[in-house]
Amino acid sequence: MAQKVRAAVFPIAGRGTRFLPATKASPKEMLPIVDKPLIQYAVEEAIDAGATKLVFITGSSKRAIEDHFDTDPELEQALTDSGKGELLKSIRDIVPSGVSCLYIRQGKPLGLGHAVLCARPAIGDEPFFVHLADDLIAGTPGCLSQMAGEYEQHGGSVVAVETVPREHTSSYGIVAVDGNDRNRITQIVEKPKPDDAPSNSAVVGRYLLTPEIFDKLEHVGQGAGGEIQLTDGIAALLDESPVYAYSFDGVRYDCGNKLGYLQATVAYGLNHPEIGQKFREHLKEVLAD
Ligand code: UTP
Repeated sequence: MAQKVRAAVFPIAGRGTRFLPATKASPKEMLPIVDKPLIQYAVEEAIDAGATKLVFITGSSKRAIEDHFDTDPELEQALTDSGKGELLKSIRDIVPSGVSCLYIRQGKPLGLGHAVLCARPAIGDEPFFVHLADDLIAGTPGCLSQMAGEYEQHGGSVVAVETVPREHTSSYGIVAVDGNDRNRITQIVEKPKPDDAPSNSAVVGRYLLTPEIFDKLEHVGQGAGGEIQLTDGIAALLDESPVYAYSFDGVRYDCGNKLGYLQATVAYGLNHPEIGQKFREHLKEVLAD
């Protein structure tokens, strides 16, 4: 049986240009879905999957994320004084004890592959999750827990995939797999045009990687869009070490674009214990007009 995965990497150094001007001075990952920022959903999913070391790869304008996961004694005192126990609990329990947060700065946003490579000193020789917070996945258990279950049983790296319409392949890493070998990936290409895509099975923002990926990332040069791509690092790994495509149970919302973000807000709003019922009634009224 493979070792447990204890570390999770959150690359959050991208520019978030698709959400400008909202992301000019504050990070995309702090956009809230109802009452929690995207990065908090991400951290909760990783902790549920067993992660105790959270490594954030940060860039400029990302201070709000460090503050979010830090304690705020003044706010805690104010909530205590005003008897707001529930709210106090909601901010105190964001990072449970026994879980540590590390922040590593990616000097320039050279690409997702480069961001993951920046985590090397904090990860060393262990397997680790990579979680892209703008891909919000509603699933029980969470997507990373599902992937950890696969890994613990069979070993090898695991990449979450989802079928997308052909015309969308140029927005994703696209894989070809060997269906007779637990969907072992035989080819992976970053953002191929629909005619060049080996399938319409797209990589989404969850990875469980073995540490051999770091040596590969050291050597891949600039790829699609002039960036150092994680996809190219994974492609370099395929011949030496198995990487499996994993179709998760759950619904993914691409919160890096405006429509996906609004769809997530509606879905999570409708399910929210405090406002769900009222929100449903409101939406009915709006749609009836
Ligand atoms: P995206 O492709 O979504 O880019 O990056 P982005 O900059 O966040 O957003 P747009 O496209 O400009 O709107 C995928 C993930 O990789 C991280 C991003 O923060 C995001 O989580 N990333 C990307 C880095 O951490 N560093 C990079 O150099 C590039």
